[in-house]
Amino acid sequence: MSRHSRPWWRDAVIYQVYPRSFADGDGDGIGDVNGLRDRLPYLRDLGIDAIWLSPWYVSPMADAGYDVADYRDIDPRFGSLAHAEAFLAEAHALDLRVIVDIVPNHCSDRHPAFAAALAAAPGAPERDLFWFRPGRGEHGDQPPNDWRSHFGGPAWTRVDDGDWYLHMFAPEQPDWNWDHPAVRADFETTLRFWLDRGVDGFRIDVADHLVKDPALPDQSTLDPAAIRPWRDQDGVHEIFRSWRAIADTYPQQAVFVGELWEPNADRFTRYLRPDELHTGFNFAFLACPWDALAFRAVIDETLGTHALVGAPATWVLSNHDVVRHVTRYGRADTSHSFAPDAMTQTADLALGTRRARAAALLSLALPGSAYVYQGEELGLPEVQDIAAELLQDPRWLRSGFTDRGRDGCRVPLPWSGTAKPYGFSPDWATADPWLPQPEAWAALSAQAQAGSRPSMLELYRRALHLRRTEPDLGDGTLTWLDGAGPAAHGVLYFRRGDGFACLVNLSAEPVPLPPHGYLLLASDPLQELKVAPDSAVWLRLV
Ligand code: NOJ
Repeated sequence: MSRHSRPWWRDAVIYQVYPRSFADGDGDGIGDVNGLRDRLPYLRDLGIDAIWLSPWYVSPMADAGYDVADYRDIDPRFGSLAHAEAFLAEAHALDLRVIVDIVPNHCSDRHPAFAAALAAAPGAPERDLFWFRPGRGEHGDQPPNDWRSHFGGPAWTRVDDGDWYLHMFAPEQPDWNWDHPAVRADFETTLRFWLDRGVDGFRIDVADHLVKDPALPDQSTLDPAAIRPWRDQDGVHEIFRSWRAIADTYPQQAVFVGELWEPNADRFTRYLRPDELHTGFNFAFLACPWDALAFRAVIDETLGTHALVGAPATWVLSNHDVVRHVTRYGRADTSHSFAPDAMTQTADLALGTRRARAAALLSLALPGSAYVYQGEELGLPEVQDIAAELLQDPRWLRSGFTDRGRDGCRVPLPWSGTAKPYGFSPDWATADPWLPQPEAWAALSAQAQAGSRPSMLELYRRALHLRRTEPDLGDGTLTWLDGAGPAAHGVLYFRRGDGFACLVNLSAEPVPLPPHGYLLLASDPLQELKVAPDSAVWLRLV
């Protein structure tokens, strides 16, 4: 099937916009919808197919918008519903599709339904929309079970009348009870609300958490190998089948992408069965260390398991929750980790940047759809020296100030100029960017890199444009090749179709260019006709 006749989402390159850090249109130091509208031509010229927006809904921002108080309106910091509608129309006019975030596991503690539940008495029906339970112990002052929040501390908070409620993330993010029909109905209304406005899909936050084991068993009583009672319960699939049935009634081929940190590839691909989600983020690829054998194993497993359900793979290097990969790949331990010290380990950024360039060519050459996290096309590193008093991620507070959290990958983008805020806010802005930008980012601004052939930005632009014109790229199959010489053990070398090959050299030695027609693109200059260590090439085959 040709690129033009297959569904758009099987090939799409999707650019993640983290709205508060992308572009500030109104000068308050926080990115917003109008700032994003102004930058749409940049995204079109980059060569992406779609934008995924992290939450833009009304929120007290206890978790940067992943605590939603109104799923059907825009937070005033970001703009208005009218701005959002104008943005959708303008993106579509530029042939860019738009995926919005939906956060169904939890809401904000300021959501009207949770406020009503708090105002009601223990046992009242309003509380059934959430997980309210009495405490344990003689005075009920112990949490109902031993579950821990992903941000640290117990997953339960006690309210004034003595009841406890469940929150798998911050206390300001109460978990919805998906066994309740009103919760299901309300989210269906939200899906239709945005589909009616023309969105092209949804990224589903912690998609595997919606259904809980209703017995709420203590984790410590369970077999450590058993599926955790707060996630990946079989009942979750029926919810996504009902969502898919709704999306399929709309003409825009709306797509679902699940956030699924699911270590078991078979369990992961159950979410991608033909009547459920279209795609899921490939975090095994994101987490993979810079090692050829490890990558090859992840790629093979991804393609093998996805083929069983007919779903396209996705290739993800970074997002707003993880250490930026320029930094990750420059460390002694190049794998991803959520451990607190992962935010602080030092890195060789020159090495990390070389590897990130090669990783871009790898991820864009693999079969399926690919994600680009804002700023990765500029080669931004993690910002590791944000002053403690400026950190805003709830993980910092919830960990008792031991885990600096994720702010280092959320620093506002540098667009232009040599002085802060590097074009992130207009010249007349009244406030500094919500997180400070490093001095070194003047050289990394989009303006500084545009037109400079060796820059990361130009590498992404050329790769994304080639990806559109090369018929063998995007969805399809991959064939591993050998013949990459003595260092073959440290090399990823594969063919797409008959006409295209990609070689990534993860070894310490230069690798001879294999036989080919001509060189389409190299992440770094060749060394005497050899592919340098930590670099990649795209080849046209004869
Ligand atoms: C995953 C999101 O990507 C992350 O940023 C957020 O903190 C949690 N889900 C909770 O919504």
